[in-house]
Amino acid sequence: MTKKNSMRAVSAAAVTGLGLAVLAVGASTGATASPETQVVVSSPTYQKAVAQAAAAPGAAKVTVVATGGTLAGKANGRDTFGSYRAGTYLMSDLLDQLRPELNGVADVDAVQFGNGGSSSYTIEKYRELTMAVEEALKTSDGVVVTTGTDTMEEFAYWLDLTVQSKKPVVITGAMRPWAAGETPGDKPVIGTEGPANLYNAVKLAAGQRTYCFGTVLMLNDEIHAAREVRKTNTTRMDTFGSPSNGPLGYIDEGATVLNHAPARLGRCDGDGWATPFDVSTITPADLPKVEIAYAYQEASGSMIEGFVNDGAKGIVTMGTGAGGLSGTMGAARTAAIGNGVWFVSTTRTGTGNVTGSGNGVIAGGDLQGTKARLLLLLSRAFTDDIAKARGWFSTIGNPAAVYVPGEVTEPEPETPEPTVTGTSATKLKIAKPVKVRKKFRVTVTVTGAEKVIPTGTVTFRINGTTVKKVNLYASKKGVITIKLPKQKSPGKIGVEAYFTPAATSKLAPSNAISWVHVKRK
Ligand code: SIN
Repeated sequence: MTKKNSMRAVSAAAVTGLGLAVLAVGASTGATASPETQVVVSSPTYQKAVAQAAAAPGAAKVTVVATGGTLAGKANGRDTFGSYRAGTYLMSDLLDQLRPELNGVADVDAVQFGNGGSSSYTIEKYRELTMAVEEALKTSDGVVVTTGTDTMEEFAYWLDLTVQSKKPVVITGAMRPWAAGETPGDKPVIGTEGPANLYNAVKLAAGQRTYCFGTVLMLNDEIHAAREVRKTNTTRMDTFGSPSNGPLGYIDEGATVLNHAPARLGRCDGDGWATPFDVSTITPADLPKVEIAYAYQEASGSMIEGFVNDGAKGIVTMGTGAGGLSGTMGAARTAAIGNGVWFVSTTRTGTGNVTGSGNGVIAGGDLQGTKARLLLLLSRAFTDDIAKARGWFSTIGNPAAVYVPGEVTEPEPETPEPTVTGTSATKLKIAKPVKVRKKFRVTVTVTGAEKVIPTGTVTFRINGTTVKKVNLYASKKGVITIKLPKQKSPGKIGVEAYFTPAATSKLAPSNAISWVHVKRK
């Protein structure tokens, strides 16, 4: 997370400088973090929203604004993932398939905004969608928007840019159609992930964990920032990724894990949270034509000329490397700028920063071309001043920083304090394995009965392999914290501690290993 003009990790102190005190949950602090609070924010506005939701589980009101897509698709057969009609079933019927379990999560209702493929929606419809979401948020605590996955990242970023409410907006869909029957309860498609995605999206919205995050995408158990996310595969269920900075977090059944957050969370308490793009103040006629021109070897200028002839007021170039254009494309751009067209320079590489700006050209930073187009479109709709638009690209489009807590912890086992087996004798063991991803480091805290820790040598083993031998010393506080070496293999780990006879002779029945914190590296 070191790129310029991108999501950057900032320390808690830097975020505090933005008016937001952020506390990391540290293993050695003994803080009793629930598995759902890996991002701890002291913003009163954020805390209030999360606390209210936690105090009354199932009481939150969530509206699902449905637009269609594969999620609502009817397949030609139960074993057919690619041959189906998107946007067939009604959202109210899909939600009924999730009841009664869904009733314990939230009071959920549906607005059937549309029922089509994602590519069929116009920018004028996008504006109406924003207003439908805002309307729902007047009475609901959160909104889930369902769309097709093909342009879901554009739906998400549009909503992120335009929704003025701080309440959670979660977008979801599915890569496999829901069912093959006349109703969604009839002939469920084998392995469809739609029901789980919809259920998790409602859960995320109800829990308020993404309050002030703007729009997030929830699919395949992962939570992504609208600005970062993109579809990366035509068919796989893990198609969505945030290539530069990774997902914001995960929903792992009982645990909602958030490891970092969009920069705008830092403005949760102030007036400056919402963007200037309140689309209820403009009309459809104010939405200009803005296009994208893709660069390649010997690309001609015809695309740009054609767009200008068609009335485009803005064009995003997806250039080679750091924004390069062929000579003919560059000449067409110069001519178009002479005619008052604004350009945003981005890259076709998929990731990376583009800094080149100049007369009529705005640097896109590391905003993806399709998303730069939406920001350019809104910028042209809300100002005639390119300097102002340039400012929006370097602030809203490329936020200065993204909050990452000083310490990132993975969810602890579902029971906050793992039970221990092998009480007094030679072995203490975490009864329930801890789930980890990627590289990790384990911090084990050994607690003593009546504040006594046995002295002697203890051997720590992870999944049966010895990883560290530690000489324990008597601790007056009755707690010793030991960091085990970094581990590379993900999976489920079990940690065991073997005490030497010298140690076990003093080991009390209630000595325990507790608070195993797993920190991602
Ligand atoms: C669409 O984007 O509408 C079709 C593809 C999908 O929903 O996954």
